[in-house]
Amino acid sequence: MNKKQMILRTPLPDRMCHWAMVVCFALVSLSGLSWVFPSLNWLNGVFGTPQMARLLHPFFGVAVFVALVYLFVRFVKYNLFVKEDLIWVRNVKSVMEGDHSTPLRIGKYNAGQKFLFWGIMTLITLLLVTGLMIWRAYFAHLVPIPLLRIAMFLHSFAGVSLMLLIIGHVYLAFWVKGSIRGMVTGYVTRKWARTHHDRWYQEISATKPSSPEAAQQQPENAR
Ligand code: HEM
Repeated sequence: MNKKQMILRTPLPDRMCHWAMVVCFALVSLSGLSWVFPSLNWLNGVFGTPQMARLLHPFFGVAVFVALVYLFVRFVKYNLFVKEDLIWVRNVKSVMEGDHSTPLRIGKYNAGQKFLFWGIMTLITLLLVTGLMIWRAYFAHLVPIPLLRIAMFLHSFAGVSLMLLIIGHVYLAFWVKGSIRGMVTGYVTRKWARTHHDRWYQEISATKPSSPEAAQQQPENAR
């Protein structure tokens, strides 16, 4: 389909940040898992050698945090809860059954995506704080041992929780056909926008209702 008839959902810098973060997150998660679960010890080769994994895991972890701070700044305004989110929550069963007959007044992101957004941001902050505390090369010697133990536990707990959350995120991204294309090319079809994010679509169309180019000139708050 011609790009002119489609809607820009995610601009290039945001997409680049998202995918760079996905690569870093995969490396950090796999190396982290190799230390938490002995049966997965073989995963510590993801950075080349186990020594490199020890060295690079924290730096890549900080990179994930920095990328998420960027995404936070860019996306927070679309992820604030509004009263209309209750309609999605009440109809979550029909959403899961793929029934889109009731208008759900969904903005750029639905309530489920908003919960996920805040979950990711909370867990990554916990990972950063506890990760810095247990970072042997720089900070661990400043932290009393009992506190180190707690930080180590919380770090592993937050890491595994975030991975589970991301597995759900990836599953849903594939389940809603057209979402991945939105995050790869930046564009979604009008039908996709109308079906999954009706209020967002109306807001965009309100700028220039009849023109397919309307989407190209969306107001900043609709992007
Ligand atoms: C292969 C892995 C991944 C895939 C396929 C994927 C896919 C996607 C897609 C398609 C969207 C856009 C959804 C939409 O336009 O409605 C999105 C948004 C997003 N993704 Fe991912 N993602 C992956 C991994 C990750 C990871 C590892 C993180 C963070 C640790 C993450 C954080 C986010 C965030 C924060 C958003 C914005 C959602 C919002 O603002 O509510 N993603 N992802």
